Amino acid sequence: MEMRPNYHISPEHGFLNDPNGLAQFQGKYHVFYQWLPDVVPQGSKIWRHCVSEDLIHWEDMGCGLKPEEWYEKNGCYSGSGITEEDTYYLFYTGNVRDSEGGRETYQCLAVSSDGVTFHKEGPVVYLPEGYTPHFRDPKVWKKNGRWWMVVGAQTKELKGNVALFVSDDLKKWQWKGNMLDSSMDWGYMCECPDLADMGEEQFLIVSRQKEDGCRGMVFAGTMDYEQGRFHIDGNAGILLDEGFDFYAPQTFTDESGRRLLMGWLGAGEIEYQMSQPTVEEGWLHMLTIPRELYVKNGRLCQKPADELKNLRKEEESIYGNGSIVIDRHSKCMEISAEGLENQTVTFDFGKVLKFLYEKETGTLHLFRKKWNGEGYDEKEIHLNKLEDFRIYLDQSAAEIFLNQGEKVLTMKAYFTEDTLIHIHSELQIKVKTWLLEEK
Ligand code: FRU
Repeated sequence: MEMRPNYHISPEHGFLNDPNGLAQFQGKYHVFYQWLPDVVPQGSKIWRHCVSEDLIHWEDMGCGLKPEEWYEKNGCYSGSGITEEDTYYLFYTGNVRDSEGGRETYQCLAVSSDGVTFHKEGPVVYLPEGYTPHFRDPKVWKKNGRWWMVVGAQTKELKGNVALFVSDDLKKWQWKGNMLDSSMDWGYMCECPDLADMGEEQFLIVSRQKEDGCRGMVFAGTMDYEQGRFHIDGNAGILLDEGFDFYAPQTFTDESGRRLLMGWLGAGEIEYQMSQPTVEEGWLHMLTIPRELYVKNGRLCQKPADELKNLRKEEESIYGNGSIVIDRHSKCMEISAEGLENQTVTFDFGKVLKFLYEKETGTLHLFRKKWNGEGYDEKEIHLNKLEDFRIYLDQSAAEIFLNQGEKVLTMKAYFTEDTLIHIHSELQIKVKTWLLEEK
């Protein structure tokens, strides 16, 4: 069973987690990811480097940052990238553990003028007062002629927050305090903070660690640069992705001005991760496809980057209702369905994945076959209205975009060669399918 994805970034061998350092530099897209050469989640993380001209074909450039110095000796942890004139700057966390298991954290800088070799300049931010060493994942951006950095943090009270810094030269950073209202519940740690400034509206993205789970969340609000505070509209964040396997997303703005997002198509309890069938092949996890962010009715939506269309090969269209069978025998496909309003509809991907939308209750049911036992993992999600459905299948993963990316569901799904796709609708719908380019 071929499980390696074709157009998703995955490690040749070893373990992948967060996307890091995303940027477009001198025309090329650069993506790093947290990597370990062995397929185990713990160890001294390396930044593995990939480059692409078109966001769909990626070249593996080997190790971008390796833990070699005292300030990063137990791992080059997550961080971000920015480009300014002819320089590509990477900010990351140097993770240090002592013999008693204590932790130290340093926010470090590495620079490059060719996008191939990165020169380490060492720590630029030390742990301020008031935080535990769970302080990591610097994200940097430019606003009002200055540089801003957010770092995911845990306060001494063991509460999650985000620390804000400002700089005029990218080297000297001034701490501005906690960016988030500490009377709100931010779990016990906020990992991988990011601010997606969409012009009129701003969105805070955090991978919130809470007792009931770790999730990639988004909060609409306003960034007040004077006060150094992010003011949330209302008090509820929403999940950025409602699938089974999504965490640690990061955004960046490319040279055309689009804001793109990629996330870790993985995460979960260690047992769950290690039970995945690819572990036997010596690799685990992948990154999501690049998604373009846009705002609709005050909400942050995600649609597949346009470049994904260049993967399409043979197209087939079907107009129909009742039972529709898609018999293309491929695990590398895109399927889109429109005209789904006012009906109950199901999409059945063999015995591996099933999606059911019930119009009476406005409930979406998702069933994904367990790989380590009998039965299905299930999700029930409320959705007032279903208009359209788009899915990307890639051997062992699926990404589903609903209502033009208003909701996204990302997951591992180990499709088999004989995966037959059945759709069932009550009314006439329009379905298009494309086989996608394989490696
Ligand atoms: C999120 C995370 C980050 C950290 C990295 C280490 O998945 O825990 O906070 O920098 O992974 O690999």
